[in-house]
Amino acid sequence: MNLIENIKIAKQLIKNADAILITAGAGMGVDSGLPDFRGSEGFWKAYPPIKELGLDFEDMANPIWFTKDPNLAWAFYGHRLHLYRDTVPHKGFKLLLDLVKEKKDEYFIYTSNVDGQFQKAGFDESKIVEVHGSIHHVQCSGYHKGIGKADNISINIDEDKFQSLSTPLCEKCGDILRPNILMFGDWGWDNSRTRAQEVRYSKWIKKLILNDKTIVIIEIGAGKHIPTIRLKTRSMAQKLHIKAIRINPRDFEIDEKFGIGIDCGALEGLEKIIEIKNEEKR
Ligand SMILES: NC(=O)c1ccc[n+]([C@@H]2O[C@H](COP(=O)([O-])OP(=O)(O)OC[C@H]3O[C@@H](n4cnc5c(N)ncnc54)[C@H](O)[C@@H]3O)[C@@H](O)[C@H]2O)c1
Ligand SMILES: [Zn+2]
Repeated sequence: MNLIENIKIAKQLIKNADAILITAGAGMGVDSGLPDFRGSEGFWKAYPPIKELGLDFEDMANPIWFTKDPNLAWAFYGHRLHLYRDTVPHKGFKLLLDLVKEKKDEYFIYTSNVDGQFQKAGFDESKIVEVHGSIHHVQCSGYHKGIGKADNISINIDEDKFQSLSTPLCEKCGDILRPNILMFGDWGWDNSRTRAQEVRYSKWIKKLILNDKTIVIIEIGAGKHIPTIRLKTRSMAQKLHIKAIRINPRDFEIDEKFGIGIDCGALEGLEKIIEIKNEEKR
């Protein structure tokens, strides 16, 4: 099926829905200028010094570095913290926000992004699940629990050596702080904030099911390598017998039982869906 037809189907699915579940991966931010980490090459393109160290994303996103080489760990996460903090969400976020607000039963965002871009674009903090945590929050890398905001943290980095010039420390015990992000081989992640988000999400879904509401999923920029978001899309579509609209310029294929693929970047795809919608309104 071609793109125009799929966009028409997408529009119809959205029109018929009472509520929208947005599932999103790193591709959602690409049109704002953010890197995705598609494969090792994609990651190294964003972080050439890490290529020189012979590390890939999975090696680097490991809590071990906060013990072994805290200045390397904070060079990586500090760079990302500042990048995400300074980024202005692209126009597609606003188009999406306007779209979901039209729905009586509104929306929920389920994302593996840690970048806080949905909040920055005006989406309601209480309608977001950050399943891998948030870079804008920190926790102690020692034993005591508790999550704080990273708002006051600023990291200076020696770009040549790819080392941070300071590391933020826990006020309570003096241990190094780390981002409240789920890393690989991470037994120390404090998941309490994400768990609370999941509880709100479950309540929302349950209420919709009990009231026999129609839900549509819009999945944007979710990759295959770490398929957390694609699996969520699929399991929700399968469980609730609902359809998903998968927007992705490369990995757009989807089993037709579960939905349709839109072979576009996030901004272009959203503009197309919303453009057709407006044309039909006339
Ligand atoms: N911004 C972030 O927070 C961020 C960025 C990179 C990685 N991560 C973490 O790394 C993992 C990465 O998984 P992932 O699947 O989200 O990312 P990924 O980098 O593995 O895949 C990105 C996906 O986005 C698609 N894409 C590329 N350009 C796009 C565009 N303009 N519009 C829409 N889609 C586009 C690619 O085709 C790919 O399918 C997650 O665990 C996540 O927590 C987070
Ligand atoms: Zn501490």
